[in-house]
Amino acid sequence: MRNVFHPVFLLLAALTSFTGALEVIYAQLGETATIKPPEIDDYKKHYVYWQLEDRPSDVDALVWRNPWGRWGTLSDDRWKGRLSLSRDSLIIKDVQETDFETFVFKRDPSGTPTKYKLLKLTVSVTPSSPLLPGDSLTLSCSAQTLQGHKDPQIQWLNPSGEKMKKGPAPLTLKVTSRDSGQWICVVTNDKKENKAKVSVTVLDLSPALLRPQYTSKSWPLTVPCSLPAHISWQQIKAKDLQEVHWHFVPESGRTPQRLFSLSLKDPLTWEKDQNRELRSAADLQKGNLSLTRSRGNEEDQGDYVCTMKFKNGVLLNRTVHVKVLQITSSPGTDLISGQQLNLTCSVGHPTPSDLQLKWVPPEQSSLTPDRHLAHFTVPEVGTADGGKWRCELWQSGALLTSAEITLKIEPKLSLWMLVVICGAAVIVILLLILAFILYRRRQRMTHLSRRLCKCKTPKPRGFYRT
Ligand SMILES: *[C@@H]1O[C@H](CO)[C@@H](O)[C@H](O)[C@H]1NC(C)=O
Ligand SMILES: *[C@@H]1O[C@H](CO)[C@@H](O)[C@H](O)[C@H]1NC(C)=O
Ligand SMILES: *[C@@H]1O[C@H](CO)[C@@H](O)[C@H](O)[C@H]1NC(C)=O
Repeated sequence: MRNVFHPVFLLLAALTSFTGALEVIYAQLGETATIKPPEIDDYKKHYVYWQLEDRPSDVDALVWRNPWGRWGTLSDDRWKGRLSLSRDSLIIKDVQETDFETFVFKRDPSGTPTKYKLLKLTVSVTPSSPLLPGDSLTLSCSAQTLQGHKDPQIQWLNPSGEKMKKGPAPLTLKVTSRDSGQWICVVTNDKKENKAKVSVTVLDLSPALLRPQYTSKSWPLTVPCSLPAHISWQQIKAKDLQEVHWHFVPESGRTPQRLFSLSLKDPLTWEKDQNRELRSAADLQKGNLSLTRSRGNEEDQGDYVCTMKFKNGVLLNRTVHVKVLQITSSPGTDLISGQQLNLTCSVGHPTPSDLQLKWVPPEQSSLTPDRHLAHFTVPEVGTADGGKWRCELWQSGALLTSAEITLKIEPKLSLWMLVVICGAAVIVILLLILAFILYRRRQRMTHLSRRLCKCKTPKPRGFYRT
């Protein structure tokens, strides 16, 4: 690089170092560092050189690009495959201990060099293994400093992005499940932010459902509970897991029942207590603790609690509220046409306002119940209204569950038919009685006449009369 020795360049170089125009960039070992020079719009029309300060020759440029779009990288063993350009920014992958040097950027061979010092940022988490809520955690973030430069500002952000205590001193806290996730150490110097991320795992069950699980007699029941995908049984067991169980607290106010307990011997298996015909999920070994049944029933309404207990007394639990959708018919399901009918579809209390009910009458029925009312009255049912009535529970376009009821409606006419049949039967009986009476009468007459003839030797009547 011939221009390095140009007097103007030397002067500029002297000026920049004199004014301390050395920008500091932080990077973590093993991570990717990006060094971004001042941007210009027509950057493609210029040469670009990225060099090390102590190897100022163009031939030794780490990365270069010419205005025709050709570019190249130094491919010695030290840098091989780790350097690239993004616009004019230098990207260094998998930062090594030896990379913390001064980098020089030049736009065009005779351009003003800009210097960047790569400094080491170290973050650490103690302990690095997964934690239980209540465990103590120490996060430290240390930034290498440059003599003559102000110390950078250090600030931790928790996984929700909230700012924690400032300062270079390590941050110590008792974790809750909200602390699980990526923590970010923000190092600010010269108004420029550098971020380093570390991940913290706090063991817990998957987040609770925000709404109840709905079921019905014609709908499956699922009571979900599981370990988050990134947490394994090994990690849980390593924290001295004592017991895992399911409890059911019926809404009817009856005493709570223990449904299942987990046997912690390998392979994990559920032991039934009062299982209420519930089945456990097939992928228990993968952390799925859910319970299911192909159909719900009225007694399922209540709270299901999935609990993990650890030797140090920590309890992790999730409660699933189960609601059962039911249709009730008054006065019953066997009706005669013309009767008044009240149908009610509910989960036992007013339907929450963000849920919608939808009635689906039998196909042949001409009734169009107000779709969103839990209760409706049919003043006079007809035979066409018999059959399967369905009531669906929807939430913003998703079907939560549906319940069914089958109504049997006899035609009113059959009453008249009954009257006719009874009448006919009565007539037949009367006729039979009449026939019997007549028969008896005739029999008695014959008997009488025989007795009259026995007293004398039978002779033709008439002759002896005279
Ligand atoms: C757990 O199992 C239940 C029932 O088999 C299933 O519905 C659910 O999607 C599973 N959950 C996970 C997280 O795999
Ligand atoms: C759930 O766990 C909390 C502590 O984390 C405890 O206070 C609560 O009583 C538990 N609930 C049930 C139903 O076990
Ligand atoms: C139906 O409900 C109404 C009030 O909503 C009530 O007056 C009527 O007696 C009910 N009928 C039957 C058959 O239950």
